[in-house]
Amino acid sequence: MIELKNVNKWYGEYHALNDVCGRVEKGQVLVVCGPSGSGKSTMIRTLNRLENIQKGDITVNGASIYDPRNDLNKLRASIGFVFQQFNLFPHYSVRENVTLSARKVFRMPAREADELAESLLAKVGLAHKIDAMPANLSGGQQQRVAIARALAQRPPVILFDEPTSALDPEMVNEVLCVMKQLAAEGMTMVVVTHEMDFAREVADRIWFMDAGCILEDSTPAEFFSAPRHPRARKFLEDVRH
Ligand SMILES: Nc1ncnc2c1ncn2[C@@H]1O[C@H](COP(=O)(O)OP(=O)(O)OP(=O)(O)O)[C@@H](O)[C@H]1O
Ligand SMILES: [Mg+2]
Repeated sequence: MIELKNVNKWYGEYHALNDVCGRVEKGQVLVVCGPSGSGKSTMIRTLNRLENIQKGDITVNGASIYDPRNDLNKLRASIGFVFQQFNLFPHYSVRENVTLSARKVFRMPAREADELAESLLAKVGLAHKIDAMPANLSGGQQQRVAIARALAQRPPVILFDEPTSALDPEMVNEVLCVMKQLAAEGMTMVVVTHEMDFAREVADRIWFMDAGCILEDSTPAEFFSAPRHPRARKFLEDVRH
């Protein structure tokens, strides 16, 4: 479904992604881990062109996302993205947050958008908060609204960049539970996370990144029992401590 072909990105002089190659198959959950500054956010943000690349190509369902005929707003709206900091619009209700791009970018009629918001919020356990404002929700609830919003376009894939790192510990599980449910339903997901229990339980593949490269592309069984690269071994020890 997603293929990265020799992807290279520089921030000025800094080579942030160094010949990154990889594939994500339909229905797979890919977990991306690695030390701070290794390029995880940069990599995941290139998948819907929140960051541009200077060399290489990225295809989604066989079509290059760099094809000049692509409408960038539509491309971004059609690939779900869930950020660490939720990024809900504070002056819009939960209902409006979930349906905003369906209505504005895809011109969905209001009635249909309302039904969509109701069903997606029920799915993430927040039907009763449909008319709440984001400021009146807990972090875990806000992140579940952000997931409902990401689902609103029926995206072929959802990208998550550290979706639980900004949450208080007691709220991490409610968000991971929703993500596990999506995975079980066959959603294709790319998840940058340090939640190694989630990775072990849910991931089909794990990429370990360091210094802008993918050093390991393994199954969880391989990665956790016998990481090949010394830096991956050190990373796992650090996370365990
Ligand atoms: N907009 C930017 N301009 C310049 N350098 C950047 C920019 N964004 C990221 N970088 C640099 O690129 C490298 C990779 O950053 P990135 O945010 O992708 O790392 P990360 O693996 O997501 O780290 P973390 O675990 O801390 O989130 C870092 O050295 C960072 O300083
Ligand atoms: Mg990051």
